[in-house]
Amino acid sequence: MIVLAVGIAGCTGNDQADVTGTKVYIVGVDGNYAPYSYIETDGSVTGFDVESVKWIAEKMGFEVKIQPMDWDAMIPSLNANKIDMVYSGMTITPERAEQVTFSIPYLRINQSVAVHNDSAITMADIMAGTVVIGAQRGTTGQIWVEENLIANGTMPKDNLKLYDNFPLVITDLQNKRIEASIYDRPSHLAAIEGKPIHIIGEINTGEEYGVAMRKDDAELQEKINTGLDELMKDPYWQELLEKYNLA
Ligand code: ARG
Repeated sequence: MIVLAVGIAGCTGNDQADVTGTKVYIVGVDGNYAPYSYIETDGSVTGFDVESVKWIAEKMGFEVKIQPMDWDAMIPSLNANKIDMVYSGMTITPERAEQVTFSIPYLRINQSVAVHNDSAITMADIMAGTVVIGAQRGTTGQIWVEENLIANGTMPKDNLKLYDNFPLVITDLQNKRIEASIYDRPSHLAAIEGKPIHIIGEINTGEEYGVAMRKDDAELQEKINTGLDELMKDPYWQELLEKYNLA
């Protein structure tokens, strides 16, 4: 039986199909997360992750609907069947893996710290815990500061400022309301482009990105893992890495 487009109105994930019976999966992405997922001036969503999932869908014979949303809402929305996967530079962590199943890893990145060009702050100051640092709420940058500077008493808790998205962090850094920012290095570089801000150091976290899916969605897990594996062996992978300055 062909399942006709169920849930058209409410944009629910899980087992939607179009009129031809092709599965349609809803992909949760952060629209403020260049170079992986961001909104173009014409309103369309693009980026390394967006182009990757479109290639995989084409290869594996399914359709995708790209759904920009708040970072914080992603895992809850996935487990509430509102979206079917999170494909948005999400680091594979043991805590998240309790709630979702991750694909095979597809990129490896480090954290980085940036300051205003007028600032003389160094990585030694960061490590001494004296600097007011901004991070996106719920990211591995926040977790790094908490685990490595706050938990051991080096840095007062109030020196960490949390924001709902990263552009807000950069605005406050530019306006000198905070003294430093921490984020995944590639997206940090993209966010500070053309701004009076520069990276002062990298933290070797060696995080791996994976696609998050519902634990019980074995069908999608299989499609994504096979598709990712094929993509990473295809010349298009190198093209994408170069296009988005990730090579
Ligand atoms: N990789 C980091 C993490 O998983 C940052 C991710 C931010 N992603 C985003 N879509 N804003 O916590």
